[in-house]
Amino acid sequence: MTAINAVADYTLEGDVGVITLNSPPVNALSAAVRDGLAGGMTMGIADAGAKAIVLVCEGRTFIAGADITEFGGAQKGASLFDVQDAMENSPKPVVAAIHGTALGGGLETALACHYRVAVPSARCGLPEVALGLLPGAGGTQRLPRIVGVQKALEMVTSGQHVPAKACLEMGLVDEIVEEGKLREGAVAFARKIVAENRPLKKVRESNEKVEAARGHPEIFAEFRKANARKFRGFMAPEWNIRCIEAAVNEPFEDGLKTERKLFMEVMTGPQSAAQRYAFFAERQANKIPDVPDDTPLIPVNSVGILGAGTMGGGIAMNFANAGIPVTIVEVKQEALTRGLDVIRKNYERTAARGGISAADVEKRMSLITGSLDMNDFASADLVIEAVFERMDIKKDVFTRLDAICKPGAILATNTSALNIDEIASVTKRPEAVIGMHFFSPANVMKLLEVVRADHTSKEVIATSMKLAKKIGKIAVLAGVTPGFIGNRMLAQRQREAQKLIFEGAMPWDIDRVLYDFGFPMGPFAMSDLAGLDIGWVKENSKGETIRDVLCEMDRRGQKTGAGFYDYDENRNARPSPVTEQIIKDFIAKMGVNPRHISDEEILERCLYPMVNEGAKLLEEGKAIRASDIDVVWENGYGWPVYRGGPMWWGEHIGLGKVLERMKEFQAQMGDVFKPSPMLEKLVAEGKGFSSR
Ligand code: 3HC
Ligand code: NAI
Repeated sequence: MTAINAVADYTLEGDVGVITLNSPPVNALSAAVRDGLAGGMTMGIADAGAKAIVLVCEGRTFIAGADITEFGGAQKGASLFDVQDAMENSPKPVVAAIHGTALGGGLETALACHYRVAVPSARCGLPEVALGLLPGAGGTQRLPRIVGVQKALEMVTSGQHVPAKACLEMGLVDEIVEEGKLREGAVAFARKIVAENRPLKKVRESNEKVEAARGHPEIFAEFRKANARKFRGFMAPEWNIRCIEAAVNEPFEDGLKTERKLFMEVMTGPQSAAQRYAFFAERQANKIPDVPDDTPLIPVNSVGILGAGTMGGGIAMNFANAGIPVTIVEVKQEALTRGLDVIRKNYERTAARGGISAADVEKRMSLITGSLDMNDFASADLVIEAVFERMDIKKDVFTRLDAICKPGAILATNTSALNIDEIASVTKRPEAVIGMHFFSPANVMKLLEVVRADHTSKEVIATSMKLAKKIGKIAVLAGVTPGFIGNRMLAQRQREAQKLIFEGAMPWDIDRVLYDFGFPMGPFAMSDLAGLDIGWVKENSKGETIRDVLCEMDRRGQKTGAGFYDYDENRNARPSPVTEQIIKDFIAKMGVNPRHISDEEILERCLYPMVNEGAKLLEEGKAIRASDIDVVWENGYGWPVYRGGPMWWGEHIGLGKVLERMKEFQAQMGDVFKPSPMLEKLVAEGKGFSSR
């Protein structure tokens, strides 16, 4: 074995030269890795004993892409293009041996090899779009030459990680080798190539599939149209599509130049900066300063859920999906049956859409056991309570859980607003009590706010954060405060949205501004979707609020065909003259003179108080870092990821501007706009949230 540098070595195995990369955690294409590859290729080509060259990686994965941390800095080391040229033009066959994931620049490196083999568990993809980028090392030019234009469009705009078997079917991988025997399998494959005298296949020369799409601009037009909703607001999908168009319409070398030019455009734009920030923010959120990485974890092999309502059922599905058995306990058989039926229907709907197989439905259902007896939680490692949102009920069930559950079990609550310290106080083990605030629908929404109470132990926190990842959630640690991180900030936006309609803006004006900003929908459309009658009691309603009046008129939202908006039979919303009149009557009664409110003011009034509230959460230590707040908003509330989250956005439009407007609003409308001391301090010091 010859060391090439700190992350790469070269070995001659019989008549095959093997370059091995070992750059944890994911063998990203740092300068050292590129240098290692370049050095390895030089050695392999020069080695008279080597008839072929295999590239393989140590650790958990093949190359997972360019090293994102290097972006924006000056390029050091060998260029990836030179490395690819060395591979593609090698006089000896070069074989990429893939395990884990070959992503982005990793797959692009493999595409410059003559052949690719993979183990069955491997996945390949060009996920740059998720970072607001496009594959910038020939990926958009080579991929369609193998998989065809339609599939390439899908892959580069979705960023999907395609399983090895599907890669084999598409020709992206030439052979699947036995799991755990990648190196041997790849070397054997390389020998076979040599023995059979197979050609040195250069993907760049394979033009049949791109030529087939030439003169058919409708392929692109239809693709854009079909995905317009999904791509709304994002720059990168369109830039990726343009690259595939270039692959079809331009010779390979020109296509590469177009790709490079477009790559630089997205790379230097604000969206990719925000999306790359989001990538690292999500990973950073797992790091809790006073909970070290080696904190012992509590094994969680069985879970109890109390309450089979909207949340309990969805929460149970997460664990069943991850193969962890769940016991759900309800008070009445009827509620239990209803809850289990909803779960089954959800699974069946997913199966009908092809998401899982019929066997998966049965397997997952078999992991969920219903019961009416809380004693069945006696052996559970974790119990999550999802009963009615009332402190007396929560205290009662936690007293009982404390008596029933085994020592060491974690007792979690899904409360959205109650004080978890108070809930924990009724147990003799407050160190075992934690908040696990799932979002609705709990089987779909990615976010999990893990809420640390005064006495929650580090083991319980570390276990909850790890478990979140296991069940496919993105966890953020919050402190106990009304509404935790997300809902506390949401309350600011909701308050202003409600106030604005009494000043002259219509619900659809506010919704439009927030929709155009990038949210999936505005607050009033959201209320109509959820149902205006949630928490509304007919007997107590006295027409005191707009919602009261709407509900009294049986305008309870989408489900009744009308709410703030009117709906047609396809649930398309239109501004409602009825609602407009109700609002005007209210305003007249209040003696307010309605005024024209600009879109800019709507946005500032709704969003600046959120940035301010975020600063207060940091000040109070209820959120660890600004990026955690952004992770919450992107994954729980539909904040457009290309705008980085409220804290990133506030910082990028200028904290000085936010502060100045908050002060103006405070002078006009009172102390709900009072700037947080942290915001004042940061502006005075010329700092941002991340540099505080
Ligand atoms: N560059 C730098 N660091 C990276 C990285 C990359 N491409 N990919 C992952 N990392 C880091 C993570 O930040 C994390 O660091 P930490 O431990 O300090 O927090 C560590 O590697 C492990 O990552 P994950 O926690 O995400 O590990 P998982 O095992 O859950 O996932 C993965 C592994 C699927 C590879 C996932 O990390 C991932 O999706 N990575 C990004 C892949 C990607 O987008 N590649 C394209 C890059 S852009 C590009 O290639 C441009 C080219 O076209 C020119
Ligand atoms: P829900 O009303 O749909 O379900 C509650 C279920 O708990 C009912 O089926 C009820 O029969 C059962 N239940 C009540 N007391 C019980 C007891 N002592 N033992 C066993 N079961 C009992 O309520 P939902 O929406 O599921 O909310 C549950 C909790 O989740 C609440 O704390 C709520 O604040 C919180 N939450 C709700 C969200 C939502 O969007 N619905 C989002 C996040 C949290």
